[in-house]
Amino acid sequence: MSQPAMKMATLDPKVASFLEGAPKRLLINGQWVDAASGQTFETINPATGEVLAHVAEASAADVDRAVEAARAAFERGWGQSKPTHRTRLLLAIADLIDAHRDELAQLESLDNGKPIFESRNIDVPGAAECFRYYAGWPTKIYGETNPSDPVYFSYTLREPVGVCGQIIPWNFPLLMAAWKLGPALACGNAVILKPAEQTPLTALRLGELLLEAGVPEGVVNILPGFGPTAGAAIAAHPGIDKVAFTGSTEVGKDILRASAGNLKRVSLELGGKSPNIVFTDADHDAAVQGALGGIFFNQGQVCCAGSRLFVEERMYDEFTDKVTTFAQQVKLGPPLDPETRMGPLVSQEQFDRVKSYLRAGKDEGAKVGTGGEAATEGALARGYYVKPTVFTGVRNTMRIAQEEIFGPVVAAIPFTDENDAVLQGNATIYGLAAGIWTRDVSKAHKVARALKAGTVWINCYNQMDPTAPFGGYKQSGFGRELGKHSLELYTQVKQVWLRV
Ligand code: NAI
Ligand code: MG
Repeated sequence: MSQPAMKMATLDPKVASFLEGAPKRLLINGQWVDAASGQTFETINPATGEVLAHVAEASAADVDRAVEAARAAFERGWGQSKPTHRTRLLLAIADLIDAHRDELAQLESLDNGKPIFESRNIDVPGAAECFRYYAGWPTKIYGETNPSDPVYFSYTLREPVGVCGQIIPWNFPLLMAAWKLGPALACGNAVILKPAEQTPLTALRLGELLLEAGVPEGVVNILPGFGPTAGAAIAAHPGIDKVAFTGSTEVGKDILRASAGNLKRVSLELGGKSPNIVFTDADHDAAVQGALGGIFFNQGQVCCAGSRLFVEERMYDEFTDKVTTFAQQVKLGPPLDPETRMGPLVSQEQFDRVKSYLRAGKDEGAKVGTGGEAATEGALARGYYVKPTVFTGVRNTMRIAQEEIFGPVVAAIPFTDENDAVLQGNATIYGLAAGIWTRDVSKAHKVARALKAGTVWINCYNQMDPTAPFGGYKQSGFGRELGKHSLELYTQVKQVWLRV
C-alpha cells in the first residue's frame, strides 16, 4: 500500500487513555465493578488481530446483581420520574455524544473495523440524534379518557414496562445502544444492556457519559459478556420484564424460548436477505450507486443489506458489468484512514463465515464478477479483509441467495417482469427490507405493496431516521424500533375505573 493511503487520523488522547491500563469494568448500580467471577476477555482490533483491551466478562451472577440494582432504581422513583427530567437527561446524553464525536468514532472503528468516515458521519451523530429524538417523547406519552357509562370515570395510563434486558450486536455497537436505550429511558424503564462480545468498548464509554449526564444509579447497567452465558441469563431472568434483541434469527428463536419462563415481552430485530430490485426504466447511475451502497456499506454487515440484487433480464449483463466495475474501485483499507470506504470484517469468525460463502457460491456455479476472496495485499494481510464481491449468474435458490452472509457479497439475479421480481423477491424466509429502482411511479407503489418487508426504499437504499419505524416481516423478527412505534415496546397500558 502506498504511503499516502496509510495516512491515519491521529489517535485522540482520550482513546489512548481509555484503552490503557486495567481491564474495563462492568457498570452496575452506578459503579464500575469487576465481574463476580473475576474473569476478563480480550477485545480484538479486526484490522490487525491485536488485542485492544481487556474487558470484565459478565456472567449470570452479574446479571443477578444488575437486575437487583435496576429493579431498585425503577421502584425508587425512576419509573415515576417527572417527564421533563427524562427529557433533560436524554438531551444531555445527546450533547455529550456530540462533544465526544471524534473519540467515540475512533473507538468504534478500532473495535469494529468500520471506516472512520462512517463511524464519524453516521454511527456517532446517528446515536446522538436518536437520544435527541427520544428526548421529545416523555412529555408526549398520553393515556385516554374513555367514553364509558358516565357513572364511572374511565381512563388509561401508559406506564413503563419495568426492567428491560437489551442484547445488541456488533455491527453498529453505539448506534444499536442508542436505538435501545433512547426509547426505554424516555418511557421510564430501567435497563440491563449487553453489548456484543466482539465490540464492547463504545457501550462502556457511553456508560461513562450516561453517568456524567446524570442518569441515576441502577437505571442503566452495562454488562459486556458472551451470548450463551450473560446473554442467555438475561433472556431467562425471572426479574426482567422485557427483552429487546438484535442479532441472528437463530439466537432470536433461543431468546423467544428462554423468555417463556416469566412471559417476558420480546422484540426481535433479526436477519435479512433483502431484495434490491432494479427495473430497466430506472435512473441507471443512481441504481448502480444504490446497489453498491446497499451491499458494501459497513462491509455488508448490515441486517437490511441489499444482498440480493435483482436486475431486469434485458439489461442484466450491462447493469451488472457497471456494478462490477464500480465495486473494483471501492477503497479497501485501514479503518482509521479517512479515505477508506471499506474496512475489515469484525472478527476471525465472521471472516471465516464469509469466506465459506464465497466457496459455496463458486461451488454452486455462480460466476465471480469481481472479488470472491480475502484481500491480503501489504498491511491488509493482518486483518479480516474481504474484497468487495459481485456474484453474477445467481439463481434465487442458491445458498448465497438464501442465507444471510453478512459480508461484502452481492448475488445478482435476473428477473423477467414485475410479477417475477415480486415472486423471487418474496421467496425467502426473511422480510426485513427491500429496494425498488424505477421511474414509473405506479409500478413503484404497486411493487412496494406486494413486497413482504418491514421497510421498502424507492430510488434510495439504507435510509434511516429516528422518526422512521424499523423492523421485520416473517423471520426477520417482530416489533418496530424507532419512531413512536418504539413506545409500544417500552410501555404497557393500565385501565383505571373510578365510580363517581
Ligand atoms: P448473534 O446473534 O450470536 O449475536 C448477537 C448478540 O446476541 C450478541 O450480543 C451475542 O452475545 C448475543 N447472544 C448470542 N447467543 C445468545 C444467547 N443464546 N442468548 C442471548 N444472547 C445471545 O450473532 P453472531 O454470532 O455474532 O453472528 C452470526 C450471524 O448473525 C451473522 O453472520 C449475521 O448473519 C447475523 N447477525 C445479524 C445481525 C443483525 O443486525 N440483525 C447482527 C449480528 C449478527
Ligand atoms: Mg453467535
